[in-house]
Amino acid sequence: MSQTIAVLDFGSQLTQVIARRIRECHVYSKIYHFSTPAEQLRADGIIGIILSGGPQSVYARTAPHPDPKIFELGVPVLGICYGVQLMGHFLGGTVALSKAREYGHGHLTIKRPGRLFAGLPRKLRIWNSHGDKLTRLPPGFVATAVSENSPYSGIEDAKRRFYGIQFHPEVFHTERGVDMIRNFLVGVCGARQDWTTKDFIAHAVADIRARVGKSRVILGLSGGVDSSVAAALLHKAIGRQLTCVFVDNGLLRKGERHAVEQLYRRHFHIDLRVVDASRLFLRRLKGVTEPEQKRKIIGRTFVEVFEKSLRSIGHADFLGQGTLYPDVIESVSIGNNPASLIKTHHNVGGLPARMKLKLIEPLRELFKDEVRAVGSALGLPREVVWRQPFPGPGLGVRVMGDITAEKLEILRDADAVLQEEMMRTGYYWKVWQSFAVFLPVRTVGVFGDERTYDYVVALRIVESTDAMTADWARLPHDLLQKISSRITNEVRGVSRVVLDISSKPPATIEWE
Ligand code: XMP
Repeated sequence: MSQTIAVLDFGSQLTQVIARRIRECHVYSKIYHFSTPAEQLRADGIIGIILSGGPQSVYARTAPHPDPKIFELGVPVLGICYGVQLMGHFLGGTVALSKAREYGHGHLTIKRPGRLFAGLPRKLRIWNSHGDKLTRLPPGFVATAVSENSPYSGIEDAKRRFYGIQFHPEVFHTERGVDMIRNFLVGVCGARQDWTTKDFIAHAVADIRARVGKSRVILGLSGGVDSSVAAALLHKAIGRQLTCVFVDNGLLRKGERHAVEQLYRRHFHIDLRVVDASRLFLRRLKGVTEPEQKRKIIGRTFVEVFEKSLRSIGHADFLGQGTLYPDVIESVSIGNNPASLIKTHHNVGGLPARMKLKLIEPLRELFKDEVRAVGSALGLPREVVWRQPFPGPGLGVRVMGDITAEKLEILRDADAVLQEEMMRTGYYWKVWQSFAVFLPVRTVGVFGDERTYDYVVALRIVESTDAMTADWARLPHDLLQKISSRITNEVRGVSRVVLDISSKPPATIEWE
């Protein structure tokens, strides 16, 4: 059995970030409800406990409290932020109520490194976010580190192996925070650092099997990273009990539907149902020019088509979704959220309840880069795992103004040329997104002896780390020249190619 670190969740949005840092140290952790009985933790064979932060005061009437017996299990405990107040409260110290929250950067001075701060510099920048403060140490404890606003920024009872830190080691703003967590896991709890992505997959597969039993799971496949990895993982766990539905909304890129069919049907042997609803989508979008209106129509139609396809597939108990941790939180108020804030594919929000489906979200605890690692380990190709983001409304928001089959065709061909060149030169993997936009503007040109009056295509190629801000990518001129001349030569109806050199803000990445 793998060694497990229990993270007791007291409601902080950063609990999952703690779990992620533990995974980064190649140790297995499990997040438990704060009130989990000590007996269960013992039965699970945990080798250490981390008490997470939380928004409440330990004195609040509704404050989440752990089973006090966790302090008698004989395993090491690390209290973070609210976790320290809990240690103070339960082990005989004093916690002072405070109305104001202390929030932001601070400076830590380590007085006694002990095991927790072993190997770290004496002075470090830290990140605080707490209301109450420990004002008197519980018996057996000593102060190990101080900050400008607390003599008890770090505390320990080395004999019982209890450690507490008032700040947040899990966020990037705390210097060497991961080393503190690693020190606790390895130096204090004696964890072996042998946990890998393969172990994650093995656990996830066992969990999915236990939960699903003999039932059926349906999953909406978009072809994007998240739903693809969820599909591959569910398929590994339950094989033919999984049915995937892929909706062709007529707003896909060139060859996209075919690629999805090839990969999932041919390669993975997944039960894949492709629903061609392109005519319905295009009919509903006819004459619609306003971007938000387009999005609404596309979103609503998707839900309708998906729901209808579920009925025709027959009974299922579960709806699988590629929800990631960053989709779960609405916002992380502090800390570094490495996840992009890209909106998920289509919002199938009300659907599970209406269809009486239970949700199964095997990637719910993971961050994007971890999902990519899982996808690679499951054998998904690089083109899927490292695919650039593609908006749910697809080419619907890349044909400016009203959408017609002819404009979509032109855009598809131009976009395919761009992607081909980006792939050929390897720039596809280096930029955040690269795509073509159809502009319904006709300009004059010459082709041979003839005068033309054709459309314009814009190239939008940006660099970004989280899609919140972006800048246009400085690609070599000869590459841009090649893309431009290939598009005007190969794509009928286009005589002019322009390059978008706006940053975000003030422009957005997409044009609509
Ligand atoms: P913007 O255009 O707001 O885009 O700078 C930021 C990121 O989000 C993607 N995007 C969308 N994704 N549905 C989606 O699923 C949408 O309606 C949508 N609009 C924009 C965009 O491609 C970029 O990565």
